[in-house]
Amino acid sequence: MAHRVGIVGGDGIGPEVIAEGLKVIKAAGVELDLVDYDLGGTRFLADGTVLPDETLEEWKSLDAIYLGAVGTPGVPPGVIERGLLLKMRFELDLYVNQRPFVSAELGVDMTVIRENTEGTYAGEGGILRKGTPHEVATQGSVNTRMGVERCIRHAFELAATTQRKHLTLCHKTNVLNFSGDLWQRTFDEVAVDFPSVNTAYNHVDAACIYFVQAPEQYDVIVTDNLFGDILTDLGGAVSGGIGFAASANLNPSRTGPSMFEPVHGSAPDIAGTGVANPTAAIISGAMMLNHLGETDAAARVTAAAQKFGSTEGGTVAIGDAIAAAVS
Ligand code: IPM
Ligand code: MN
Repeated sequence: MAHRVGIVGGDGIGPEVIAEGLKVIKAAGVELDLVDYDLGGTRFLADGTVLPDETLEEWKSLDAIYLGAVGTPGVPPGVIERGLLLKMRFELDLYVNQRPFVSAELGVDMTVIRENTEGTYAGEGGILRKGTPHEVATQGSVNTRMGVERCIRHAFELAATTQRKHLTLCHKTNVLNFSGDLWQRTFDEVAVDFPSVNTAYNHVDAACIYFVQAPEQYDVIVTDNLFGDILTDLGGAVSGGIGFAASANLNPSRTGPSMFEPVHGSAPDIAGTGVANPTAAIISGAMMLNHLGETDAAARVTAAAQKFGSTEGGTVAIGDAIAAAVS
């Protein structure tokens, strides 16, 4: 039976790169039953819709969601981020954000496992006495034992399957003495269940130096939501550019669909010019195939994307070159 996949092309270059991803998936011989959703900044500006609860309910019966990019100039900051992307992550319990960075040329082959439902993204806090000289803003970091453990456990499970079997915890335990303590203790306790995995710890600021100067030392990295957000933009930058950075927002318990999207944004400045690199979207599509059990097609798409992702000629030419290589 064909997998039922929700498509959110979104804004800017989103629909352009998703079209190439779908072209490649088809060429790889996998049949998808697609359901289109018109959501994102453009839709919000047209009629105020962000993510209706009915749509979210409908999504719970899908096998996966494939998203291009959302965001349009003119939409106030936070509306689409919190109302669409974070709502998806929280409501569908997409608690792992898995972001691989691979470049044989640059000697990088690492995967960041970013906690995706807690930390400073949870929305704890508020503003008091707004607009007065005594205004107070707090933005708490929420870290639950359950949330931290399930993310760390996923990272260990992944590290146990890699060639190097190495996992680094990135945090800031020297300053964040409460959340860092919970992360470090949980990491050490889960490690006991994975004797084949070698472990390391880096403070996140030091990790930024190593990402640039010695990225080859990393295999799998596990970190909290905000550190993971920042580290994965850096990961993209040191492994060929953000045009190659793919991601999977996973619900590893499979109580609902997982969501697959490139790390890059909607890039309104180049939308419609045909120059956006669709490789990140195509590799995200391969991660989706893998999650759907289409492991053979996923491996072929990933290999072809790594080989032909720098083809000259723009969005469609790159998509065509990768599609030709997988068919
Ligand atoms: C990402 C993005 C999102 C994040 C934004 C758009 C909410 O930067 O997926 O990395 O901060 O997680
Ligand atoms: Mn980000």
